Order: sequence, then C-alpha cells, then structure tokens
Amino acid sequence: MTMDAEFYSRVAERFGGYRSDARSTDVFADGRPDDVFDELAIALGAPDARLLDVGCADGRSLLRISRAYGAVTGMDLSPSMLECAARYRAEAGLPHVTFELCDAAHTGLPDGYADVVTSRRGPLIPREFERVLRPGGAVVYMGIGEQDARELKETFGRGQNFDSWNGRPLSEEIAQELSDAGFVVTRNQAFRFEEFYHSAGDLDTFLHQVPIIDTYDSAADKEAFDRYVAAVTVDQGIRLSRHWFIVQAQKPAAVEPSHS
Ligand SMILES: C[S@@+](CC[C@H](N)C(=O)[O-])C[C@H]1O[C@@H](n2cnc3c(N)ncnc32)[C@H](O)[C@@H]1O
Repeated sequence: MTMDAEFYSRVAERFGGYRSDARSTDVFADGRPDDVFDELAIALGAPDARLLDVGCADGRSLLRISRAYGAVTGMDLSPSMLECAARYRAEAGLPHVTFELCDAAHTGLPDGYADVVTSRRGPLIPREFERVLRPGGAVVYMGIGEQDARELKETFGRGQNFDSWNGRPLSEEIAQELSDAGFVVTRNQAFRFEEFYHSAGDLDTFLHQVPIIDTYDSAADKEAFDRYVAAVTVDQGIRLSRHWFIVQAQKPAAVEPSHS
C-alpha cells in the first residue's frame, strides 16, 4: 500500500468511510462542487454507458450517480475503504456497481472500455484515462486548488501543496496535463467556499479525516491549532476557506476515413 492508501485506510477504520462526524456550516458562493460534479457525471450517463471512477474511497459519492449508467466500476488502493464501499453498495441495492482494489495507473481494463472516467479528488492519470476511454468519451476531474485552506497551512507551516499559492493555478496544470494526453478541455470551473466548524473539537476531527495537514497530530500540533482557531473564529464558527475546481475534458471522436 502507498502512504496515501495507508492514510485513507486509517480514515475508513476510524470513521467508517470517507466522512467524519465533524460538524460545520458550509457557505457555497459558487455552488456546491459535489452537486455540480454529480450533475455533470449524470448528464454524461446512459442506460448502456460504462463509468469508471478512480479513487472511489467508500463509494458513497459514486453510488449517488450510479443509476445514470448501465455498468459502473469503482477503483481504489485502500482495502478498508473498499470494505465500506461494499457495505454501502449492498445498502443502496445497486448490483451493477463493482469495486476493485486497483491502482488507477494500471486499470487492466481494455482499450476504449469506458464512456466516462470520473475522479473526485482522486488520482489523475491522463494517459491511462485516454487509453481506457472510447473515442468521444469524457473525463470529469475534481481537484483541490492552490488556495485551499491556505491560512491554516500558513499557520502550521506545512500542508498539502504548501506554498503553491503564488504559482501557476493547479487547475491549469491539470488542464495542461489532459491536453498533453490528447484531450480537449471543455470546462475549468473554480469553487471558493467557506466551512465554519461548530467547535475546536469538530475542526480537530476533520483534520484527522483529510490529508490537508500531513501527519496531523492533535497533541504535537496543539500550539499551531490553537493559534489558528483564535485567529479565524467568527460568529458562524471556526472558518476554513476552501478552493476546489472541476476540469472536464473529452477524448476526440474517431475520424472516419474519407472516400474521395
Ligand atoms: C480524497 S479520497 C476520494 C474521495 C472519493 N472520490 C469521494 O468523492 O468521496 C482519495 C482516494 O483516492 C485513492 N487513491 C489514491 N491514489 C490512487 C490510485 N493511484 N489508484 C486508486 N486509488 C487511489 C485513495 O486511496 C483515496 O481513497
């Protein structure tokens, strides 16, 4: 297992999936990114269409959109997340969804197998996505922007994509990687939103659920944590400023040979 998968397995074992009971009130100025992602993925579906979702974690987000497709495959590197996914699939009664323990870099699926590939804050592997998609197929990717939780990371002096805030926007890098692999980028949409945690305990729980602050430790990081809470507490709660994005891209359709 990679470090990443080990982290997510610990999360699944502690919280029963990729969601904790941390309470927050969220304010979405640009729309709720998960809702937009669901709408885009559902709009690309069809009764005979095949969806591949990479980095599916506990599968709950994938199960929400699965009825729009005839066959659905979710892949992840974390066995514990996939155990949760199997449970949620059984509860949802969606037998056309299968989950596989697999590195998305080597899906093992045939060329042109999928109509749509989705990755919701999961891995982005443009060459493999291009290979596994049929001509005309689409990829929908949700990523974490360079401004995400910036004030928190600055207070801790470390974190996911630390110090990338003045560089090239990460969504542009992703769009570039997809176009380098032969895709036509059709959407690049940013989402800035605020989460207001109801208590310090809620923010502490949340930081154990996500890899925003690598190796977050409540005791060792207490001084930075308290400093952050003191600086950002407002009437609504303890503010965490988020920045996500969605990039959608299409594999060009096959060109018919001309018979002139
Ligand atoms: C942020 S979580 C994704 C959450 C999920 N997509 C959702 O919407 O709820 C990232 C997941 O990607 C998985 N992952 C990371 N690299 C991977 C890879 N190369 N192949 C498959 N899964 C991977 C991790 O194990 C983790 O479960």
